[in-house]
Amino acid sequence: MRIVYVVGTRPNFVKTAPVIAALRARLPEGRHAIVHTGQHYDRLMSEVFLEELGVPAPDHMLEVGSGSHAQQTARVIERLEPVLIEERPDLVIVPGDVNSTLAAALTTAKLQIPLAHIESGLRSFDRTMPEELNRIVTDQLADHLFLHSAEAAENLRAEGIAEERLHFVGNTMIDTLVALENRFRAAGAASRLDLEPGSYVLVTLHRPALVDGPLLRQTIEQLAALAREMPVVFPVHPRTRAKMEAIDSEHPGLLLTEPLGYLDFLSLLADAGAVLTDSGGIQEETTYLGIPCFTLRDNTERPVTIESGTNTLLGLDPAAIATIPAALTQQPAAAPPPPPLWDGHAAERIAEIVTGQGQSQ
Ligand code: UD1
Repeated sequence: MRIVYVVGTRPNFVKTAPVIAALRARLPEGRHAIVHTGQHYDRLMSEVFLEELGVPAPDHMLEVGSGSHAQQTARVIERLEPVLIEERPDLVIVPGDVNSTLAAALTTAKLQIPLAHIESGLRSFDRTMPEELNRIVTDQLADHLFLHSAEAAENLRAEGIAEERLHFVGNTMIDTLVALENRFRAAGAASRLDLEPGSYVLVTLHRPALVDGPLLRQTIEQLAALAREMPVVFPVHPRTRAKMEAIDSEHPGLLLTEPLGYLDFLSLLADAGAVLTDSGGIQEETTYLGIPCFTLRDNTERPVTIESGTNTLLGLDPAAIATIPAALTQQPAAAPPPPPLWDGHAAERIAEIVTGQGQSQ
């Protein structure tokens, strides 16, 4: 069997690494070609992750880089098509909801190659988010939809997607966390930054709705105020860093860092007193680890993290950051158990389905 995996951004490496490993183990004679679109290209956003996650060097680098959504998507389509024609895969696997995912799904479907989508069925019901458009289109085109939570199945059924395409397998991002937990728990990132475990708030913010307009300045002011009560550590995404150049962000207690590698980031996350984020994946990682998470968005495509987790939606409202210290005094003593099938074995389930279908083809 010949499989092509298309990845391109930081969270996609985390979601796909265990699937590549599980399928390579089951199909050692198969062709496993990794395509890196190059949507993320800085060493700290890309190579560090591939190295730490044990992903083999990509077979094809498309080097699409940054640009408008149309440019980025078009470049992936144009450069991926000859790769797929050359590779002649039996299956293309794409993760998540970024522009590279959408572009790879379209290219694959037009070549009439079977397509599998990891992390299918998530919906924010907010079409102003680029990721929502990418998810809807990718799910319509995919032949095999791998779901990590029950509400994903409801969303897909409501869009008319046939039952036999749906597979509830669990969460591959949590597979990576489970596989590397011993290593990140030993990494000691907090003590290297002189932070006491449990005492600090870890922050990540990168979504256009928050960082591309006036809300970013208000957010930094709120973080500066929060930092007077507890240390705040903020590894800054390059998109956010570019927007922050015009803002005074030097405040006592507010520690800005470069983007961190996977092990250092998960080490800081596991030892945090709380997390403030607009990321999707971090809502899931905090749910699994039982760390209080405050999401600075109006909605989430991951309601399971609210129902059975530790996630609180603050709204797209920087002023709500001021409520975090009081909310932390009201956390339940014991964290709820992780959602069903967030158990470290989702990629094995995917491999089982893919190889079962591969044999019958
Ligand atoms: C993308 C995804 C988002 C995902 C995020 C994870 C889309 C629409 N968005 O957002 O869903 O949550 O990745 O990080 O696909 N840049 C660099 N170096 C890099 C990458 C980006 O400097 O390695 C800068 C560039 O200025 C670029 C900007 O960051 O213009 C935004 O990068 P882009 O890939 O367009 O989107 P993200 O904001 O990273």
